[in-house]
Amino acid sequence: MDKTKFLDLGKQPIANRFLSKDDFEDEFFYHLEVGLDQETMLVTHMNYVDAPMMFNDNYAYRGSMSTTMVNHFSMFSESMRSILKPECKVLEIGSNDGVFIKNWNKENTIAVEPCGNFAKETNELGYKTYSEFWTAELADRILEEHGTMDFIFSANCMCHIPDLDQTFESIAKVLDRDGIFVFEDPSLSQMICLNSYDQIYDEHPHIFSVTALYKILRKHGLHIIKVENTTVHGGSNRIWVQGKHANRDRTVTDNLDAEKILGLHDTSTYNRFAESVAKSKSDLVNLLTRCKANGSKVISYGATSKSTTVFNYCNIDTNMIDYITDTTPEKQGLYSPGTHIPVIPPEEGIDNTVNFAYLGAWNFSEEIKAKERNFYGKFITHVPTVRIL
Ligand code: TYD
Repeated sequence: MDKTKFLDLGKQPIANRFLSKDDFEDEFFYHLEVGLDQETMLVTHMNYVDAPMMFNDNYAYRGSMSTTMVNHFSMFSESMRSILKPECKVLEIGSNDGVFIKNWNKENTIAVEPCGNFAKETNELGYKTYSEFWTAELADRILEEHGTMDFIFSANCMCHIPDLDQTFESIAKVLDRDGIFVFEDPSLSQMICLNSYDQIYDEHPHIFSVTALYKILRKHGLHIIKVENTTVHGGSNRIWVQGKHANRDRTVTDNLDAEKILGLHDTSTYNRFAESVAKSKSDLVNLLTRCKANGSKVISYGATSKSTTVFNYCNIDTNMIDYITDTTPEKQGLYSPGTHIPVIPPEEGIDNTVNFAYLGAWNFSEEIKAKERNFYGKFITHVPTVRIL
């Protein structure tokens, strides 16, 4: 790939590796730089972190921790069932804690999940789960053991895989001639519009545009037939793909046109984005510094991968944020990657002593605001601009 660098987010740790104090000394850091691939227009990291460093048996991110995501997958499953044959064969790549597959029957559904802790959970629930990374070799084995698949789904996983060519090539092999492959990941257009640079971290080596996906998928005989713009994860695209030229709907051209108008084909757009990211950093640090100078207690809401990027890029540690609250049992009692802010359960940390809560999980702000309607303090966000809500 011939990449041109446009953004430097500095030294970053593994975004989802929450640590105990004993781990501080050996913590792994890498240099997070982002570039544009001139051939495909793919926005991608200049260098990739090795997958097992991120996805292993201690993986802490649980998809089912938000009602928004649980509902999102159950509604989508219901709508898919209405267009698929009842006995259709389903494969999910990157099944996490089963938040999607739990909506499907165990007999016809298989899953791939490299994080052993989650693969164990879904296997115990009765869904055959391969605890491996998606590779050409695994695709061949699945083909041999189960035959072709009618529906392949993958949420927030395709953008995790550095080698897209091998990934899509092997999906094309396993997908039935009349099958549908649907995947969803954060949208590059939305990241640029919202200045949400925190979508970028080790696990997201690529931030997808429809433009780049269109070019890359086509190399493997895969064609985008429909694009849905969804609000989840701060703005995602759900991409519908088939192995032959099936009825392409106008959402594909609409999205390609919109991306052109937004400037995703121009290097200058990415340079302007990098300038906005630098401004977001200084605005956030200034705001938090003023809060602290005023004697306010500031916490963070949601120990997200996104906040790992923000806190490390902006050097925000316990001098500015007292602690982070998070509902995930795997993260509680530990410290945030890189800047080592304690993570505690919301029941212990959200009370009337808190003046401000930075929204690490700004993508769930509606769900959070509804849940915290009696919260005494005010929320802070950096998306799309740094401000107190
Ligand atoms: P998410 O935004 O999906 O994180 P990432 O940037 O890692 O993809 O995750 C939301 C995190 O916030 C997750 O750890 C659960 C937590 N959370 C709460 O603590 N309270 C809430 O009300 C919600 C919705 C999420």
